[in-house]
Amino acid sequence: MTERTRTRAQARRERTLDQVRRAETAALVRSDIAHAAIALHGTPVLLLDPERVRRQYRRLEAALPFVAFHYAVKALSHPAVIDALAEEGCGFDVATGEELTLVSGVPRDRIIHTHPIKKPSEIRAAIADGIRTFVVDNETELEKFAGAPEDVRLLVRLAYRSPNAKSDLSSKFGLGPFEAERLVIRALERGIRVCGFSFHVGSQLDDPGRFVTAIERTLRLLDRLEAILPVRLDTLDIGGGFPVAYDAAVTDLETLADRIRSVLEPRADRLRILAEPGRILAAEAMTLVTSVVGVAERPDGRWYYLDDGVYGSYSNVIAEDVHPLVFALRDLDACPPADAAHRWATLAGPTCDSADVIAREVLLPDLRVGDLLASPAMGAYTSVTATRFNGREATPIAIVGTGVRTGEVRTASSLQTVP
Ligand SMILES: Cc1ncc(COP(=O)(O)O)c(C=O)c1O
Repeated sequence: MTERTRTRAQARRERTLDQVRRAETAALVRSDIAHAAIALHGTPVLLLDPERVRRQYRRLEAALPFVAFHYAVKALSHPAVIDALAEEGCGFDVATGEELTLVSGVPRDRIIHTHPIKKPSEIRAAIADGIRTFVVDNETELEKFAGAPEDVRLLVRLAYRSPNAKSDLSSKFGLGPFEAERLVIRALERGIRVCGFSFHVGSQLDDPGRFVTAIERTLRLLDRLEAILPVRLDTLDIGGGFPVAYDAAVTDLETLADRIRSVLEPRADRLRILAEPGRILAAEAMTLVTSVVGVAERPDGRWYYLDDGVYGSYSNVIAEDVHPLVFALRDLDACPPADAAHRWATLAGPTCDSADVIAREVLLPDLRVGDLLASPAMGAYTSVTATRFNGREATPIAIVGTGVRTGEVRTASSLQTVP
């Protein structure tokens, strides 16, 4: 394929994504329940549909039926998401004692603790709470498990660098194969039980080959260590990283799963295979609705100032360098939005910091103060990483999923009736 045809094909896929996201956003924001949520909370408001989380979980399960999924609570720790996944039978991956309290109703054998560095007191509390699977990647951490109950099982975290991922999760944690071998030997010497390996190929990584390589290398290491050491390594945790289409199409879940299945399925009868997806389950379940609070003409064109920004729900723009789509609500049927009244604009957040810029060169109709905008796929790593900078309140989350009647808009902690 020439560069030119590739670029055209890519542009076509992106146009399709734009159309799909506009249609989904239109259906949501025009629903009675979304109107009720916006009427109740004003803007900004995050509209959360837990049904979409369920749907994504079912897709994952169907695509990789031999994998035990543990939702990475850090992506979006809202109780409605946790309840929906717990009902579906999903497990949970927690990184802190605080996250563990969020899944208090879930059977403990469905929870894994995957932070490679933990306070000793946190380990003690988690063990007392019934958690039995933990992750280590160094000798100091391993020593914290000396004398732990016999059924505590440790996974050694491996590093597979992914410069193309939005977040390379092997730059801070993880071991190479030789260091991992030394750690397993050390655990054997200390009588601490290591049951296998975990890794994370990097978050928002659109590269099926990286998953395949990481799995193959880990299986080779596992086979080698079982051959030379008196150890049974029966668990492989393939982490998270499954990508989401923000402003560009990505490999779809089923295609990625096919590649993973080809290397993993033959081993599924002897191995307990885990995964810790976060983004793929949560991202598409939440839509942000904001409004314009200011308009200015600057030397580089029109600027719109919104009532949420990168210090709030758009924290993913800064922390992860993802680029959520932003649509004007009255423009949702226009695709492509090309009439003469449209112009390229910069979108900024409400704080006084110059870094609070959400997006540049967004094609928008003429907007006025009070006009509404929406960003789809705002469920993962948004509200959880938002700050209170400039004294701003956290953006409320309203549940708008199937089963919620127009008169009821559930917030995080209460059920309120819209007059
Ligand atoms: C240890 C661990 N597991 C799982 C996840 C979830 O990854 P993702 O949201 O890319 O699926 C993360 C993300 O930071 C992580 O650090």
